[in-house]
Amino acid sequence: MGLFLRLAFRKRERVSMNTILNNIFQSVSEDADTFNRLFYHFLWAAGIVFLLVMGATVYVILKFRVRKFTKALKPEPKMQWLERATIFLASGIILLFLALTIMAVTDIQRQPEKGQQADIVIVGHQWWWEIRYPEEWVMVANELHIPTGKRLWVRLESADVVHDWYVPALGRKADMVPGVTNYIWMQARKPGVYEGACNEYCGAQHAWMRIRVVAHSPQDFGQWINSQQELAKTPSSAIAEKGKALFEEKVCGNCHAIRGTKAVATVGPDLTHVASRKTLLGGKYENNFENLRAWIANPQGMKPGAHMPNFIMTEKEIDAIAAYLYTLK
Ligand code: CUA
Repeated sequence: MGLFLRLAFRKRERVSMNTILNNIFQSVSEDADTFNRLFYHFLWAAGIVFLLVMGATVYVILKFRVRKFTKALKPEPKMQWLERATIFLASGIILLFLALTIMAVTDIQRQPEKGQQADIVIVGHQWWWEIRYPEEWVMVANELHIPTGKRLWVRLESADVVHDWYVPALGRKADMVPGVTNYIWMQARKPGVYEGACNEYCGAQHAWMRIRVVAHSPQDFGQWINSQQELAKTPSSAIAEKGKALFEEKVCGNCHAIRGTKAVATVGPDLTHVASRKTLLGGKYENNFENLRAWIANPQGMKPGAHMPNFIMTEKEIDAIAAYLYTLK
């Protein structure tokens, strides 16, 4: 299976596929441990049953094969004890795994203390993730930063269709259903970057709803939150200043917010610190000036179907807006 996936994706997306294949059983949380343990129990049991059934099949084929079609086949003697034993054993295995599954699910679904507010709110959009830290008044997109150690109570919502949040190393996955509020626990025991993706087909660009989670030590996380709380810096160059004015006057501000400016809309991603992110467009492109400019110049060419339309702007205007956004570290 792994080889097949590697071959199928070998040209365009080799790096991303490798990352996902390597990470699927990586665990830095208690919930992911629980899932992996359950998976290996299933794998062992299924493996043993498979070998027993295949062994018995081969044995029966060899032992009872008809060598010559000269005499009529005799009915085999009844072996009721064996039938009963097989049914008993199969039922026992099924009940055991039912119990193990219920225990695992109950453990992962446990409720928080009464009245506990969500530490993080994540909203699925076609095709990006809105991430809010209600306590800290911070809003970002696509790249989730979390502190290590703490179990985080995360609220999941959808703005349009069904999406599914899944970062295997950090815990369970869960659907984001319009009109429904779901909660999961999330935890990272050690700092690092953990990858995930939307796990429910949600339209043309479903593949580009990648998730990048950066787990920091609590101290580093505090610094990151502080940096995100800051309002956007006032542009220091003439071109960036022109870009800011264009951003506010042109249509950009109808969908996006940049805290500290006149742009306050929440339809598209918050861009207050857009240049501090590692990737653009749900993980499709590296975040650098060229890609940022190309996105503003031709959104439908960069991510067909995305809700940002192509705008009529001069090359100079595009340069100015890109220059401004790229100062927003
Ligand atoms: Cu969102 Cu698939």
